[in-house]
Amino acid sequence: MTFYVTTPIYYANSLPHLGHLYTMIVGDTIARHKRQQGIETFFLTGTDEHGINIERAAERAGRTPKEQADYVVSYFKKMTAEFGLDTAHGGYDMFMRTTEPFHYQGVSELWRRAANRKTPKGNSAIYKGHYEGWFCAPCAAYKTEDEYAKPSQPGDPPTCLVHETPLDRVSEDSYFFRLSDFAEALLEVYESRPDFVQPESRRNEVKSFVSGGLQDLSVSRLRTSVSWGVPVPDDPEHTMYVWFDALTNYITAIGFGNEERERAVGFEKFWPAVHLVGKDILRFHAVYWPAFLMAADVELPRAVVAHGMWVDPDGKKMSKTLGNTIELDVLNRHFAIDAIRYFCLREMVFGQDGRFGYESLIDRTNSDLASGLGNLSSRTLTMISRYNDGLIPSGSISEDKLLLAKRAGVDTDETTIFKFLEQARSQFLQHLDAFAFSKALETAWSVVARIDKMISDAKPWELAKDDNQKQTLNAILYRAAETLRWLCVLLYPVMPNATEEIFRQLGLDSASLRSFNPANLKWGELIAGTPIREVKAIFPRIDKAKTMNEINGEGQKSNVESREATKPGTEPHSGVHATEADAVAGTAATDATKPEPPMQHATEADAVAAGVTSFIDITDFTKVELRVGEVLTADRIPKTDKLLLLSVDVGEEKPRQILAGIAQYYEPDQLVGRKIAVVANLKPRKLRGYESQGMLLAASVGDEGKPVIATFTEDVPNGARLK
Ligand code: MSP
Repeated sequence: MTFYVTTPIYYANSLPHLGHLYTMIVGDTIARHKRQQGIETFFLTGTDEHGINIERAAERAGRTPKEQADYVVSYFKKMTAEFGLDTAHGGYDMFMRTTEPFHYQGVSELWRRAANRKTPKGNSAIYKGHYEGWFCAPCAAYKTEDEYAKPSQPGDPPTCLVHETPLDRVSEDSYFFRLSDFAEALLEVYESRPDFVQPESRRNEVKSFVSGGLQDLSVSRLRTSVSWGVPVPDDPEHTMYVWFDALTNYITAIGFGNEERERAVGFEKFWPAVHLVGKDILRFHAVYWPAFLMAADVELPRAVVAHGMWVDPDGKKMSKTLGNTIELDVLNRHFAIDAIRYFCLREMVFGQDGRFGYESLIDRTNSDLASGLGNLSSRTLTMISRYNDGLIPSGSISEDKLLLAKRAGVDTDETTIFKFLEQARSQFLQHLDAFAFSKALETAWSVVARIDKMISDAKPWELAKDDNQKQTLNAILYRAAETLRWLCVLLYPVMPNATEEIFRQLGLDSASLRSFNPANLKWGELIAGTPIREVKAIFPRIDKAKTMNEINGEGQKSNVESREATKPGTEPHSGVHATEADAVAGTAATDATKPEPPMQHATEADAVAAGVTSFIDITDFTKVELRVGEVLTADRIPKTDKLLLLSVDVGEEKPRQILAGIAQYYEPDQLVGRKIAVVANLKPRKLRGYESQGMLLAASVGDEGKPVIATFTEDVPNGARLK
């Protein structure tokens, strides 16, 4: 048996944000759950790298589209590693990129197959025509009248209701996919396969959309309008519509249309997949995609499962402008990965929108994890170490001690607890299989509460004072420890790190969790006499006031930095994190391929100009180490007209190598010998294969942001600190 689960592939014009992290966490949880059951599983994620939007983002950032994609992919890979979602941490099996040559091959194959076949109504599935209409580049979708807002000024283009940005007028020859011929066939699929679109509410939404009738879909653009994409087979003057290209990744990744991939993974082996998607892209997955596949006579996906959107604690869409976004690096700095996973899965009722706020994340971490599971684990293990020399005790009570146990108010019938656990297990697994993560976790936490109560009622610390009650005490401790073992097995897919740690502290082999089928859990398999390991807190309590202060402090800075991200026309699209804009602004801040001096955002005057009313305090400023440096050498870098490679003496043993995006304004010779101001504690970054070990300061002048390098009129030693 095999199982295949996918996340959407993420636009390569956006840096990773909470929405991406969320779908990956869901995919990762499902994949681990299946692997635990011994099912051979393939978990796919990746990036969607073609289309006009990426072409434009690349242009704004002064990169080629492929460079733009590489840049974003490096961030995605870094994010997945940091959050334990990559292959090395037992997460995804493959990071797909639509710029892979084998993908071009597979997409062309799917197109050809569809083009050569007839629709259920006997027409050609793909035909040539003329498209006249409006297109939203960030959505990568054509917009009908009810999907855009009319312009306020006559003559202006209408604006997308999702992005509130102007639409592009398209009037050109185009290939069409005859979607209108597939409505009945699709409705038949939704009818005969109730699980095809999940949850139920989403299925109804899709059904009613299709019942309203379908229009044919333009599936190509002229190469002269959009060149960054897969050429239409046998007609390279046309570029395939990016959604046709992107959706097909789910089959090309595993071998459709490419023998090498087929051997490496296996379309035959793994297809069909369960597609995890956000509700905003459900139509593409539950209507267009199955229609494309039907047209090409390829088996349909197993299911399309749609989740809701994360909104802020007040229910508002998140956006940089409102300052209510959740930043992944803030999450990463302040919270345990498993706390984030738990929160995401517990807080969002799958299918509906969920509220995400740092405060509620802290509250849940403290109540459910620190005081809940974490506390149950440490109190149980601490008592085992204190009252039974650190050895798992025996759980049985001999005949002659039963009365004593009863007198202490302890249920002497062990079956009560394991019947309860068995029921909880089956409920938990049922919920997990139905993507009802929050319900599954509620079930698991009812177990935590029950065992907590069992311990509090039995008062082991009292029992420990009476030698006659040793067996009763041991039975209580055994039940708690054995329940913990069960909980670890059940919760492993949700919290792999924490459960492995609890397992380890219980004296068990933590590596066995990843292949421990919960169906095989049997009460009593925790062996008495097993030595436990050193007890450590699994989820330390978070000091809410302190953490919120720190987070808010970081937030002020990122407000100033994000000014670039909120320039008109670069409004982020997803609403969770500055997306496209970030990827572009990232250039200014870190990459220096744009002729904009990186430090321009960080002055108080700028903050005021940007309308930021709060100021950083002096401790924030002192985090930046500014030093005087002397330019020793300056050189142009081949194949870029923007970057200079400088060697700068900042008073250290060796000069620093610094890349600066000023080549269009300064000749290398003008710089040699100059004293400049350098940010000396900036994390080194690689650009165009060169490591940049700092950043120079410059003023940004005029509309085009011409850099004027900050310098000194008096003599200063190299390395002197700027304060
Ligand atoms: N490239 C397309 C998908 C192509 S799949 C063949 C795309 N990319 S995306 O980067 O814009 O979005 C990827 C996923 O992030 C979508 O599933 C979307 O629903 C999800 N999210 C974006 N914002 C989100 C929230 N605020 N909350 C939860 N998920 C969100 O669409």
